[in-house]
Amino acid sequence: MKMLFTLILSFCLIFYFNVEIVSTSPLHYDSIFNFGDSLSDTGNFLLSGAMAFPVIGQLPYGETFFRHATGRCSDGRLVVDFISEASGLPHLPPYLALRKDQLHSFHGVNFAVAGATALDAKFFYDQSIGKVLWTNDSLSVQLGWFKQLKSSLCTTKQECDNYFKKSLFLVGEIGGNDYNYAYFVGGSIKQLRASVPLVVEAITKATSFLIEEGAVELLVPGNFPIGCSAVYLTLFGSPNKTEYDRNGCLKAYNAFSKNHNYQLKRALDMLRQKYPHARIIYADYYGAAMRFIHAPRHHGFTGGTLTACCGGGGPYNFNNSARCGHIGSRACSNPSSHANWDGIHLTEAAYRYVAMGLVNGTFTTPPLRSSLK
Ligand SMILES: *[C@@H]1O[C@H](CO)[C@@H](O)[C@H](O)[C@H]1NC(C)=O
Ligand SMILES: *[C@@H]1O[C@H](CO)[C@@H](O)[C@H](O)[C@H]1NC(C)=O
Ligand SMILES: *[C@@H]1O[C@H](CO)[C@@H](O)[C@H](O)[C@H]1NC(C)=O
Ligand SMILES: *[C@@H]1O[C@H](CO)[C@@H](O)[C@H](O)[C@H]1NC(C)=O
Repeated sequence: MKMLFTLILSFCLIFYFNVEIVSTSPLHYDSIFNFGDSLSDTGNFLLSGAMAFPVIGQLPYGETFFRHATGRCSDGRLVVDFISEASGLPHLPPYLALRKDQLHSFHGVNFAVAGATALDAKFFYDQSIGKVLWTNDSLSVQLGWFKQLKSSLCTTKQECDNYFKKSLFLVGEIGGNDYNYAYFVGGSIKQLRASVPLVVEAITKATSFLIEEGAVELLVPGNFPIGCSAVYLTLFGSPNKTEYDRNGCLKAYNAFSKNHNYQLKRALDMLRQKYPHARIIYADYYGAAMRFIHAPRHHGFTGGTLTACCGGGGPYNFNNSARCGHIGSRACSNPSSHANWDGIHLTEAAYRYVAMGLVNGTFTTPPLRSSLK
């Protein structure tokens, strides 16, 4: 089981700030604060010293956009990078690389750590699966970093409120790993359903905490359809065709993601009542991804959306003995024709598609774009 476990450990190395300012800025934020896991980590995991999977610090990771490995778990940019660009801001530096002199022209920072969970590490240690965690830098640890940084950004409540009302707070995606860890050590869907309210509570608590600290605009993403992910399809595949939907995804695992998202949306509704002055925006990652999973070619994914671009063989090109970056694996020649990058994470092309759905599309509730001051 431990072996299986290693497969989700995809990390990233070496951060790099690419300052690309787009001419049109549909979003109007002065700064962005991001919390999350490998879907949005721009370098913290590697900086935290957890180098168990050093391949993430080498090509082909980063090959498409940065042309070298940056610490991102993809071939290029992530959703958070596209949101930064849409705001006319530089890509967020990872918190663990933030230098004092960068505070003079500060436009936000990224606290996300690959492998991070919404629940604290203690929860997993109490269930004797703590050893499989890649990192203890859970959501509450990331909030602690924010609190620490805050004192160097503003002092009085008035000053902080003024500062943060022009900021966007991205709370997630987070929570996916809470389930991944448990599934990959043999947890059943039925067992894991019981943990969904706890994970959702951790996310909503973090959201409340940030609002209490002065956040006004918050984007809280749900989970991707895990039943369409190459790693789940490989590990939990079945000879029983009725377990797959018409897109070739595992129905029961997608139902699990949907249930998480449903509970998260309901919890956010309650938060909106508690904090009517805040704009709490739900981001439908599931729906955005389903668009291209359902009609890959129509959205430019000619290589398909379920098979990984980079891997070492098997029906979904995900092979635990030859994961992306390891001997025996190779990356496809055109990553932008694939949605899945390494079996676990998505390609830049897929993340761009999701970001477009948030910034220009209909996959946020309420719409992100109307949040202009
Ligand atoms: C997490 O914390 C536990 C207990 O404090 C420690 O034994 C473990 O090494 C830590 N794990 C990581 C990945 O840092
Ligand atoms: C196949 O799966 C369906 C539902 O998932 C189940 O009802 C059926 O019994 C399964 N068939 C076999 C042969 O296991
Ligand atoms: C998985 O990788 C191992 C090691 O490179 C290789 O021997 C094996 O044939 C691969 N499996 C598939 C299904 O390609
Ligand atoms: C949103 O649309 C604008 C104008 O068409 C485009 O320039 C921009 O790249 C889009 N944003 C994203 C994140 O795709």
